[in-house]
Amino acid sequence: MTDDVVIIQGEQTEFAVPTGVFAETVTSVEHYTDRLFKFRISRPASFRFRSGEFVMIGLPNADKPVYRAYSIASPSWDEEIEFFSIKVDDGPLTEHLQKIQVGDTVLMRKKSTGTLVNDALLPGKRVYMFSTGTGIAPFASLIRDPDTYEKFDEVILTHTCREVSELTYGKELVAQIMDDPLVGELARGRLRHYCSITRGDYEFKGRITDLMRSGKLFSDLDVPPINPDEDRGMICGSMAMLNDTKAALEGFGLVEGANNKPATFVVERAFVD
Ligand code: A2P
Repeated sequence: MTDDVVIIQGEQTEFAVPTGVFAETVTSVEHYTDRLFKFRISRPASFRFRSGEFVMIGLPNADKPVYRAYSIASPSWDEEIEFFSIKVDDGPLTEHLQKIQVGDTVLMRKKSTGTLVNDALLPGKRVYMFSTGTGIAPFASLIRDPDTYEKFDEVILTHTCREVSELTYGKELVAQIMDDPLVGELARGRLRHYCSITRGDYEFKGRITDLMRSGKLFSDLDVPPINPDEDRGMICGSMAMLNDTKAALEGFGLVEGANNKPATFVVERAFVD
C-alpha cells in the first residue's frame, strides 16, 4: 500500500492507493443525456492494453472502493484513457462516478483483459461490431485502431439505443474519425456506422436482431447476408442482447471464438449482471 493524495470532487484527501492500482486524473467529462456520459483520464506511462479490452475502475471514496468492469473506449495508441458510462442513481459506482469533475481522481486496476480484440477473430473481409447502449465503448476503441483496418476490408459498427439522443456519442466519434490524421484515411469508405432506435421516431428503427432476421440490415447496407466465409462479428450489450445476437450469428453459420481459439465471432460478457 502507498499513501497518496487523491482528489474527490475538488477536495484533496489522503488515500492509500492499493498495489496493482493506478490513481489517475480526470481530464474531461461530457454528459450526453441524463443516462449517458463520457470521461477521459490521464494514462499511466506503463499502462499497456489491446484495443477492445476492459479494466476495473473505481473511486477513492471509501476504504474499500467498489470496482466495476469498464471497456476502454480509446485506442491503444491514445495518450489518455476514455470511458463511456451509464448513470445509475442507485448504482454503487455510477451514482458517484456520474458526478466526477476535471481534476478528480479515478482508480484503475493495472491489468486489462477481454475478448473483443482483433486477435480473437480469424481474418475476414468484413467485421460487424454489434452494440447497444454503452456497449459501443469497446468498438469506439477498435474503430480508432489502424490494426482493425489492416485485418478487415470493411468495418460495420451497428449501434442500437432506445432514443435518438443516445446515439450522439457514436455519431460524433465516427465524424471525428473521418477527419483524424492517423485513421481517417483508413476509415473513409471502409468504416460504416449503422444506427437504429427502438423507442421513438427515426429513419432506422428496430432491434438489431430483428433487422438481421428480416434482412433489412443487409439491404440497407447493400451487402450480402452474413456468411462465415467473409464475415466476422463482435457483440457487446446487455445479457439478453448478447444471447439473442449470438443465436442470430450462429444461425448464419458463425462460430464463437476466444483469445486462445480465434473463430468467426466473439462476445464480451464482463459487463452483464
Ligand atoms: P428495446 O427498447 O426494444 O428494449 P437497454 O438500454 O435496455 O440495454 O437497451 C438498449 C437497446 O438494446 C434498446 O434499443 C433495446 O431495445 C435493445 N435490446 C434490448 N434487449 C435486446 C435483445 N434481447 N436483443 C436485441 N436488442 C435488445
